Amino acid sequence: MDIKNLENIDITLSTASKINEVDFDNLSFGNTFTDHMLVCDFENGVWKKPSIEPYAPFMIDPSAKVFHYGQAIFEGMKAYKDNQDDVWLFRPEQNFERFNKSASRMAMPEVPEDVFMGGLKRLLEIEKNWVKKGDGNSLYIRPFMIATGKGVVAAPAVFYRFMIILSPAKSYYSGEVKVLIAEHFSRAANGGIGAAKAAGNYSAQFYPTKLANEQGFQQIIWTDDATHTKLEEAGTMNVFFRINDTLHTAPTSERILDGITRKSIIDLAKRENINVDIRPVLVEELVEAAKNGSLKEIFGAGTAAVINPIVGFSYKEEYFELPKNEDSFAIDLKKKLTDIQYKNAEDTFGWTVKI
Ligand code: COI
Repeated sequence: MDIKNLENIDITLSTASKINEVDFDNLSFGNTFTDHMLVCDFENGVWKKPSIEPYAPFMIDPSAKVFHYGQAIFEGMKAYKDNQDDVWLFRPEQNFERFNKSASRMAMPEVPEDVFMGGLKRLLEIEKNWVKKGDGNSLYIRPFMIATGKGVVAAPAVFYRFMIILSPAKSYYSGEVKVLIAEHFSRAANGGIGAAKAAGNYSAQFYPTKLANEQGFQQIIWTDDATHTKLEEAGTMNVFFRINDTLHTAPTSERILDGITRKSIIDLAKRENINVDIRPVLVEELVEAAKNGSLKEIFGAGTAAVINPIVGFSYKEEYFELPKNEDSFAIDLKKKLTDIQYKNAEDTFGWTVKI
């Protein structure tokens, strides 16, 4: 796809760049932001002219609905730089589509393509020096929308703000990831907002994840809310289970986020002739496979996390360590995926888009 340039935009450049103050070798995920941000307001049914301005705090009314009713959605994307200094996005149209699906589910206005894509292109052109070359380096892109409309009446706002901020990133997790399988808490329920990238889906996980952290686990693998027998997704990523040589993952549903890394891994694995089985995976199957040695790997997949191996899991107080594999699917698929993202391998799928 070609991203059209957005012409109808106001640009105010910052007088000084922070870039020389940043230690790009020691970034903690999501804590450093570039010099500029994109802002576009929605007022009384109309999207206003977008602007790119210096990154800065902004004023918002204390009664804005984002504070009281959590009308807020976001996306996670990344930009990569190749050896020729060109900047690339990975399947951005998928993020755009998912963003507007999330918007509809949260009774928020859809963002026009020229604002989302064209605005992102303009912002990345300005911030291209923040995209560093080399494996593991990327610029994490966070488009989001909040309800800025005033009033504590529990009804959708009429004023919204769409923004894009950018953060140079390396890996999301710095150490080993051990997971706890949820027995009581739930991430989402049928009929709810689990499939939307709504802010509340993430904050609702903070408390159970904090309890898991206190027990030495970095993440929770959520199970279905009705029976807690089916494995669904982890807090920041979708999950894959390798039993013997088959890769299993849960189907997307009203409760599970339609992850772009997830669907790319499925396509890559199929291309590599790996047997992929998309169906609800039962907790008891996983425990049985861990006990009889057929469980070879578990890994998470997401934009921020990329592909992250999980070293062990706990269920009902029993901890299962995963074997170390010579022929890890996680390592192999991560290499294949990132080679496409960094333009080190031919993109036969047509996933990469040049800025
Ligand atoms: C992403 O992977 O981009 C996400 O949105 C997950 C977030 C919790 C970092």
